[in-house]
Amino acid sequence: MPLFAQITDSHLRADEPERVLKLRAGVDRILGLGVAPDAVLVTGDIADDGGSSEYEDAARELARLDVPLVVLPGNHDDRAGMRAAFGLPGTGEERLQSVSVHGGVRVVACDTLVPGSDDGDLDVAWVAKRLAEDRLTPTVVAMHHPPYLVGIEQMDGMAPPADQRAELARVLEAAPNVIRVVAGHLHLTTAASVGGVVAVTAPSVNIQLAPDYGTGLVAITDAQAGVMVHAVTGDGIASHVIPV
Ligand SMILES: [Fe+2]
Repeated sequence: MPLFAQITDSHLRADEPERVLKLRAGVDRILGLGVAPDAVLVTGDIADDGGSSEYEDAARELARLDVPLVVLPGNHDDRAGMRAAFGLPGTGEERLQSVSVHGGVRVVACDTLVPGSDDGDLDVAWVAKRLAEDRLTPTVVAMHHPPYLVGIEQMDGMAPPADQRAELARVLEAAPNVIRVVAGHLHLTTAASVGGVVAVTAPSVNIQLAPDYGTGLVAITDAQAGVMVHAVTGDGIASHVIPV
């Protein structure tokens, strides 16, 4: 059974070394799953302000998993620092996007980073091309910003724009082999339907956020950190929150 783990939003800071310990605990939790996942999806905001030493710390901790990593950036990340620490291809502000196959499941990893901004920007045309290349292999689409609104103003203000969300929904409707969209960014577990595909956000391996639906703001809470597991079953795919 193909199994993916997802670890997200570690927000490492050199001046707060305990954050590395939280990432380490998440890695340990994945190491304790009883089986090695086919790949681990690292869905952005690895570092809090894009420092290179933070990426080196993250790469060292994640290397302990000893499985393929699918690494993509979030709004807090720096592409150059990620490329250097994780040995990823590309240069400059070229998007850090990839397609790979693990355990017979294709992962289309998208880069929604806009340098200097917290807002998500999805290259839907690139996603459409990648999906058009293979209409048969079960496929997971991964990105940092969830491509759907969650009803929390502060977070929805950073979502990819409405035209991109609508276009992605159309692209997914034409891609019946896409079994899941996975994202991070919210520090909150959510699920929605995008173009008929179930899309989820994983909890942060570091700090969780709690919404206030009255003000539309989020606040830091002491809720438990987590990672996610996506298990590809005979029926499709099931996503699990694993507390850390
Ligand atoms: Fe984020």
